[in-house]
Amino acid sequence: MTVLVTGAAGRIGTALQSRLPGFGWEVRWFDRASVPDGIVGDISSSDDLDAAMRGATAVVHLAGLPTEARWEQIREANIDGLVNVFEAARRAGVRRVVYASSIHAVGFQPDTAGLPADSPPRPDTLYGVSKAFGETLGRYYADRYGLRVACLRIGTFEDRPRHVRTLPTWLSPDDCARLVDACLRSDDLSYSIVWGVSANTRCAWNVDSGYALGYRPMDDAETYAGALPAAEDDPTDGLVGGGFTSPGFGIDEVTSRS
Ligand SMILES: NC(=O)c1ccc[n+]([C@@H]2O[C@H](COP(=O)([O-])OP(=O)(O)OC[C@H]3O[C@@H](n4cnc5c(N)ncnc54)[C@H](O)[C@@H]3O)[C@@H](O)[C@H]2O)c1
Repeated sequence: MTVLVTGAAGRIGTALQSRLPGFGWEVRWFDRASVPDGIVGDISSSDDLDAAMRGATAVVHLAGLPTEARWEQIREANIDGLVNVFEAARRAGVRRVVYASSIHAVGFQPDTAGLPADSPPRPDTLYGVSKAFGETLGRYYADRYGLRVACLRIGTFEDRPRHVRTLPTWLSPDDCARLVDACLRSDDLSYSIVWGVSANTRCAWNVDSGYALGYRPMDDAETYAGALPAAEDDPTDGLVGGGFTSPGFGIDEVTSRS
């Protein structure tokens, strides 16, 4: 079972490099930046993707822009590049895609207890719009072509939480690998949206969809809570997307900063 991981040189990809093989997967690492024993390629190139997908059974798609940017940049990486990845998977007969979505697909959702992982898109940024697009594209490939697709609404991926605000949304590197492994392994996956968060005491979201795929997170951000400085009141605290919902993440503001 060969798994292709795009975006392998990035923060999440690097964490997976040292963990995913331990779950028994044979992994092919792909990035436009070089990765030890990996393939250098670009998701804007169908040729690169066709070569990389040959013989693979699943794709973990991480490559792209991980934050807000100008629309042209978002579109190139997270829309056009994503379509290329799904199309290459279909052409190559790859039957399973694990897609790195984000909580910013639902950033303007009030942060309420029991919030389901598949709550309707309410993106907080153009980045979040691109992630909602990716989830919808995944739905299309699942329905039309029978691909098994897992969309991970990842919270805050870090070695350890660095701010009180991320205590509910933290995803540890080990849990990230557990989540990807569950999505690669599950016979019950057809199409699913899953929260990409650890077993955080302060996270009250409904994690049933991840549980149904066999995801059993083991880390809890609360372990680090005592060492973090208290957060000041922030008007964006009650929304899933936190600071990304603030006026500073508007289109004009981001354009003027870039
Ligand atoms: N880190 C987080 O907290 C977080 C949270 C939610 C979602 N995500 C999503 O997870 C994914 C990975 O995030 P990350 O933090 O590791 O990001 P990152 O920026 O560290 O890594 C992204 C990788 O993608 C590669 N890449 C970008 N464009 C490419 C292209 N055209 N062709 C080939 N490779 C390309 C980059 O070289 C980089 O190595 C992203 O899709 C991001 O949106 C991350």
